[in-house]
Amino acid sequence: MAEPFYITTAISYPNGKPHIGHAYEAIAADVIARFQRQMGRDVRFQTGTDEHGLKMAQKARDLGITPAQLANEMSQHFIDMCEGLNVSYDVFLRTTEPRHHAATQELWRRMEANGDLYLDRYEGWYSVRDEAYYDESELTQGEGGEKLSPQGTPVEWTVEESWFFRLSAYQDKLLTLLETPGFLRPESRRNEMIAFVKAGLRDLSVSRTSFDWGIKVPGSENHVMYVWVDALTNYLTGIGFPDEGGDYAKYWPANLHLIGKDIVRFHTIYWPAFLMSAQLPVPQQVFGHGFLLNRGQKESKSLGNVTDPMALAGQFGVDSLRYFLMREVAFGQDGSYSPEAIVTRCNAELANSFGNLAQRSLSMIFKNLDGELAEFSTQAADDELLSTVAQACGKDLVAAFEALDFSAGIEAWMRAVFACNQYVDEQAPWTLKKTDPERMKAVLLTLFKAVRDLAIAIRPVVPVSADKLLDQLGIPAAERGFADLADGAWYQRLRASGFKLEQPVGVFPRLELPAEDALC
Ligand code: MF3
Repeated sequence: MAEPFYITTAISYPNGKPHIGHAYEAIAADVIARFQRQMGRDVRFQTGTDEHGLKMAQKARDLGITPAQLANEMSQHFIDMCEGLNVSYDVFLRTTEPRHHAATQELWRRMEANGDLYLDRYEGWYSVRDEAYYDESELTQGEGGEKLSPQGTPVEWTVEESWFFRLSAYQDKLLTLLETPGFLRPESRRNEMIAFVKAGLRDLSVSRTSFDWGIKVPGSENHVMYVWVDALTNYLTGIGFPDEGGDYAKYWPANLHLIGKDIVRFHTIYWPAFLMSAQLPVPQQVFGHGFLLNRGQKESKSLGNVTDPMALAGQFGVDSLRYFLMREVAFGQDGSYSPEAIVTRCNAELANSFGNLAQRSLSMIFKNLDGELAEFSTQAADDELLSTVAQACGKDLVAAFEALDFSAGIEAWMRAVFACNQYVDEQAPWTLKKTDPERMKAVLLTLFKAVRDLAIAIRPVVPVSADKLLDQLGIPAAERGFADLADGAWYQRLRASGFKLEQPVGVFPRLELPAEDALC
């Protein structure tokens, strides 16, 4: 039986349309999901929208519509974004779904049964933009002297009756968890969280009475739950909780919660504490990725530099955008993007290096061998090339992707592409055509094998293009996994099936930088 792998993204507030940060996280999670599927794992991939809370309620009020209308309209944009970017989720969870209300209320009851909830009065700071409570000591001063959250968002003084969660009781257990190697990555985030816990944890306000757009507290109907209690529980709802059989039994605890670095506190302190209180296992890993900057600047409405990720994908192609983001940004750190950088990177690596390698190799096989996959005997240079490719695709890229170091994995792959291009230049099959046709055959068919391996390895990143190429190579859809790289018999099988290569079609077009006024 295939080993389960449960991966989630953060669920987004649908208070506006998705921006590039949402696209980045969805793409990264999709690359992981596709990679793990190609590794033969039984993947469950969940994303969704976080539809309750004050931020949604206020935005709807400003627009003169109900929060439910806002959520319905905007969550569709997130669904469309996933579709548009080929994000292969299994579950798109909306927190307004009845099953999610039921799951969250059950989690609440379990925390209550454990003695961790009590009624009191909250007096303190709250940021609606972050949907977060802050201690006075965490606040900074804005330019006009106003108080700001550590994320630079406005805070308001809040006083109301509220349920509290005994977060303070989990201090030691949380420290142990945070110190568990691999639980929170990257390292830098871990140190921040350890410092936060060591400074002392206060109990957390987990319900609100001043508005009603949320999940009702069981037995306390004038309270709605704090939106983060509700939101985090999505990870359980989507796998059937409170039914602890079926998908829950298979997929919980999650292998990976992929989130942005700004919400690490919620995922590595609040969430594990809620789970411990409900006596449920905690997730295996939380990874806080960095932010994407537009030419080095944060996108904002006031700067007028907000990019629609769908427009970007439309302009350069979905696979190009995916490749760029996974290749260019060291995963876990902030990264920067610009149309020029996308064009430069994709042209150099996808179009000129890999695309060109595939296109010229296949064209020569089509023209000079009639597209036929013959038997051939190899020389040392051929064996060496194939072992370089096998090492890069089946070992180096795999190890790097398992460690979520995508740029390093793609770099290893790129080195193998370079080795292939160098091999073509050295072997010069166009010369061999006249001098030694048998040798030309061996060179071209060695390249056929190399291109197949390279396409399989990069498929999680550029699924549509890689599949178009593999279709042309005649590789069956069921033989495009990492285990197939080690299958020594595929070529013979393909030969025996009578496969013939058709006139090849390029799958990695050269990108043009659009004119200044057409840039998105
Ligand atoms: N909506 C939150 C945000 O955008 C993220 C919620 S992720 C959760 O910051 F699943 F944990 F809730």
